[in-house]
Amino acid sequence: MDFAAQLKSSIDIVKVVGEYVRLRRVGATGRYVGLCPFHQEKTPSFNVNQTRQFFKCFGCGKGGDALNFVMEVDGLTFPEALKMLAERNGIPMPQRTEYTDANSKLRGALHDMHSIAAQLYAAALQGPQGREAREYLAKRGMNPELMEIFQLGYSDPSGQILTRRLTDERFTPEQMEASGLVRRRTEGAGYYDAFRGRLMFPIHDESGKVIAFGGRGMRDEDQPKYLNSPETPIYRKTSVLYNLHRARDGMRKHNRAVLVEGYMDVIGVYSAGVKEVVASCGTALTNPQARAMHRHADTVIVNFDPDDAGANAAERAIPLLLDESLHVKVLALGSDGTGAKLDPDEYVKRFGAEAYRAKLDSASGYFHWLADRARGRFDMRTTDGRMDAFKFLLPAVQRIPDKLERAAVVNDLAGYLGVDPGLVLEQFKRAALDRRTAAPTIRGQPPSPRPPATSPVTAIECILLNALLSSAGTRQQILPRLTVAMTSRFASHAIFDALRQMAAAGTVAFSELDARLDEPSRALLHGMVTADEMGDDAECLAQAEACLRRLEDDVRRRQLDELRTRVKAAEREGKAEEALQWFSELHRLEQEVKGE
Ligand code: GTP
Ligand code: MN
Repeated sequence: MDFAAQLKSSIDIVKVVGEYVRLRRVGATGRYVGLCPFHQEKTPSFNVNQTRQFFKCFGCGKGGDALNFVMEVDGLTFPEALKMLAERNGIPMPQRTEYTDANSKLRGALHDMHSIAAQLYAAALQGPQGREAREYLAKRGMNPELMEIFQLGYSDPSGQILTRRLTDERFTPEQMEASGLVRRRTEGAGYYDAFRGRLMFPIHDESGKVIAFGGRGMRDEDQPKYLNSPETPIYRKTSVLYNLHRARDGMRKHNRAVLVEGYMDVIGVYSAGVKEVVASCGTALTNPQARAMHRHADTVIVNFDPDDAGANAAERAIPLLLDESLHVKVLALGSDGTGAKLDPDEYVKRFGAEAYRAKLDSASGYFHWLADRARGRFDMRTTDGRMDAFKFLLPAVQRIPDKLERAAVVNDLAGYLGVDPGLVLEQFKRAALDRRTAAPTIRGQPPSPRPPATSPVTAIECILLNALLSSAGTRQQILPRLTVAMTSRFASHAIFDALRQMAAAGTVAFSELDARLDEPSRALLHGMVTADEMGDDAECLAQAEACLRRLEDDVRRRQLDELRTRVKAAEREGKAEEALQWFSELHRLEQEVKGE
């Protein structure tokens, strides 16, 4: 048996995957499901089979064994994955398999260099040359225990120490340069340290390996304030979250993550006993980062700095988090009473751990925070201003996946902003149309040109259409009973006509339906389809049946009205015979309605 097979036979894929994905056991057959770490999804289609020791995602198609999994999720090569799983499970690794190809060899070297650098920096912080840095940290309320937990360090100002050490360790010039830890001199030969005289924050990957650094200047003239490692083969900025490897247990335990902006905030919040805290480190939050959080928790509390930059960053982060189907709360640490606005780190220091934790626990839903932002931005004394404020909130509201919750939020917001709920609903429907007829916009400014003005779509036609489109069974049951008279008054009547024709001709496919319609109807269709999500076949059928009953009633009521008018007209004109005839017709229909 080769080493890979031997390794696989001594580990359990459920445990390996379980480190990255929250798995739920289904049935007694050793099947587990969770949210796929490789693509964005709302309902779990990622399966792990314990008996056969493989994983498979029915959403994105990825699948394989435990080794394939860690290769994919951590971006490792095969030998790296072998090594990592062997180390984690205390299984000795045969020497010869180590770092076979050039790429894994380089990555291995980069990991080693970062680990050496982290040790060197940490030792320097404790040594005589680290005094200034220690004083700086003490002034900022940092204690030795935290310095150790976060492996803080200090980079020597001479620019020689790390370069010399890495040279001594026989790393090649190519490896040194690729690490981002040293730089080549522009004039003359040789290298020098990239980080000099800075407080060093190691950045780890999810498995706890140091992969990069953030270096903070300690004097005002040290610019930039933070110097961060460049992207390297082991450091992809857009997918790393600072502190994730320490935070993830807490994230699972409390089912929430606290998202802050900076290194110091992470440490401050952590010191308050809130270990489930991560930061995106100065760059705008990305989808992979949101997904990384969702692998361990369902709620994210955004706690950015209370300045404009922080608020803007939070505003941009919210839709991203919502798209990942996370529950989003915002904690805006307002003032301390003196009007000073505090970032999370300062807040903890000023008011203590308990006060901060209480604030976190009482953080409110993101839309209240957004609504307050909107209130500050628009003139709330005018109808237009209030409407603009509502439009500003619309994109976030539309991202709420649950229909009922969304409706409740719309109502809530309308009340909060003082706008007419009727207007709001109208706006809402139009936005749904806009979304499908033009390129999506983040802020939800209405894109131009607007879809052609048509009479508004009613809820009933929307529900009915979605039920018919989502379920073949429903089409079979409902379409034959859905008469032209029932749909002729719909704004979307042409869509239903097309559906009938298609059903008569054979199968119904959305793309074909789309192609059959003229522009105004297509625009309607797109708006109607996005507006609602449907359930399974049974639910679709039940909804469609309810619609059908309503429509039958409507048609009948119209017939009754019509007959009554005719009776009256005939009476008025003295045509007794005819009046009687209409009347008996009317009577028959009335009896029919009562009989039901
Ligand atoms: P303190 O200012 O020491 O309280 O640190 P902080 O971590 O709270 O930093 P701040 O709120 O100013 O910025 C948040 C994060 O943005 C930092 O932790 C860094 O990751 C990043 N950042 C800040 N300034 C710079 C900079 O000048 N360059 C780069 N590349 N990143 C920065
Ligand atoms: Mn700060």
